[in-house]
Amino acid sequence: MRVFGDQPFNTHAAMIYRIAPSLLSADFARLGEEVRAVITAGADWIHFDVMDNHYVPNLTFGPMVCSALRAHAQQANGARVPIDVHLMVQPVDALAEAFADAGADLISFHPDASSHVHRSIQRIRAKGCQVGLVFNPAVSLDVLDWVIDDIDLVLVMSVNPGFGGQSFIDSALRKIEAIRRRIAVCGKDIRLEVDGGIKVDNIRRAADAGADTFVAGSAIFGQPDYAAVIAQMRARLE
Ligand code: DX5
Ligand code: ZN
Repeated sequence: MRVFGDQPFNTHAAMIYRIAPSLLSADFARLGEEVRAVITAGADWIHFDVMDNHYVPNLTFGPMVCSALRAHAQQANGARVPIDVHLMVQPVDALAEAFADAGADLISFHPDASSHVHRSIQRIRAKGCQVGLVFNPAVSLDVLDWVIDDIDLVLVMSVNPGFGGQSFIDSALRKIEAIRRRIAVCGKDIRLEVDGGIKVDNIRRAADAGADTFVAGSAIFGQPDYAAVIAQMRARLE
């Protein structure tokens, strides 16, 4: 039996932090340029928010846009920058596979949007992508007990999904702590990403709770100097 209560978690010494700017707050008329600019500014991943106007009350972009941006998602030396697809769609499987074909590196979905979570995980993995599960603010973590060995990433929503620019919901910190303990018990290298309302002045709190990957949309794209914001975030994480 696994005990999730008192496990040690998050030794900062070994932690590799990643910053994943969300294109949701980029200039949609210049997406390729925006991807290149934010990579030059120091982005580790590109966070790609897919909304279907059904699971969430907003509509963004599909696999064709992901595919068009793939060529822009690289560093000056040609190294690929992972595209981190966050699916806010229902149903999940067909679109997840379309994003795998479109060049996504990681694909995360909301377990409450899939009728068969384990099957959705297997179908994404069969396409060669890493898989993440996303937890909304009021969704419990029970499903993790049954699939944690099969995933690469857990994404904690610290806002209700659908829009950029919302305020961070503090209960996400407790949820991050609980997930970090589960990851420690599992022993696998699973990334713990937080998404929503992340700014320079709260990124440290999310890291202290156990997050290692930070999505930021409006905090980065809402400022003229992306590199300055990312540098300030990294400074808070040191
Ligand atoms: C919200 C999206 C987020 C969003 C975050 O549904 O999943 O990725 O872009 O935006 P900010 O950082 O502005 O809260
Ligand atoms: Zn997102």
